[in-house]
Amino acid sequence: MKSPISSVIFVIFLFFLVSSAHPGMKKQHYPCKNLVFYFHDVIYNGKNANNATAAIVGAPQWGNLTILADKFHFGNIAVFDDPITLDNNFHSTPVGRAQGMYMYDTKNTFTAWLAFSFVFNSTEHKGTINFIGADPIMVKSRDISVVGGTGDFFMHRGIATIMTDSYEGDVYFRLRVDIKFYECW
Ligand SMILES: *[C@@H]1O[C@H](CO)[C@@H](O)[C@H](O)[C@H]1NC(C)=O
Ligand SMILES: *[C@@H]1O[C@H](CO)[C@@H](O)[C@H](O)[C@H]1NC(C)=O
Ligand SMILES: *[C@@H]1O[C@H](CO)[C@@H](O)[C@H](O)[C@H]1NC(C)=O
Repeated sequence: MKSPISSVIFVIFLFFLVSSAHPGMKKQHYPCKNLVFYFHDVIYNGKNANNATAAIVGAPQWGNLTILADKFHFGNIAVFDDPITLDNNFHSTPVGRAQGMYMYDTKNTFTAWLAFSFVFNSTEHKGTINFIGADPIMVKSRDISVVGGTGDFFMHRGIATIMTDSYEGDVYFRLRVDIKFYECW
């Protein structure tokens, strides 16, 4: 029969064998919930007050509140109340509102910083999902943080992959939001 000491040494040896065989091995994570939405942002341009869902509320000294400023819109801040839809059709019945703000915070490329909530009050979903993060707009697919939620999304956290699904100049853009929750309750 083996002595306890030698079994302990054997176990430690096995541990090193296994861990050195997979250096830098990361724990695999799988989403506990996956949801896809689209939201539609119609920016006020001086003529579309009734249709606009976003207003420029901040501009640098060289700009104004009607047109996004030169220099990659640096210094502009917009507040939005955008319809959320299940598909990419602007005219589909909204299932909620995307409400918050974006600001352009890079002077030599188009980059925005997003802080907004998805607000739901339907039979399908009730509650909010809260998003924050840097949005390098020119990159096809970018990730922002899902920092929390309320209601149906109580204590949920994860990552949202956003893609610009369509845009029309500085007047309209549509984002596809692929939400992967890694913490659900
Ligand atoms: C509102 O804006 C969207 C996006 O630009 C456009 O598709 C739609 O036709 C506009 N609606 C009206 C009534 O102007
Ligand atoms: C806002 O700025 C744009 C572009 O610089 C300019 O064409 C427009 O006349 C300005 N609008 C107002 C109301 O000052
Ligand atoms: C959700 O909708 C119901 C029914 O229309 C309304 O009574 C309730 O106040 C709404 N809740 C929120 C948070 O807006």
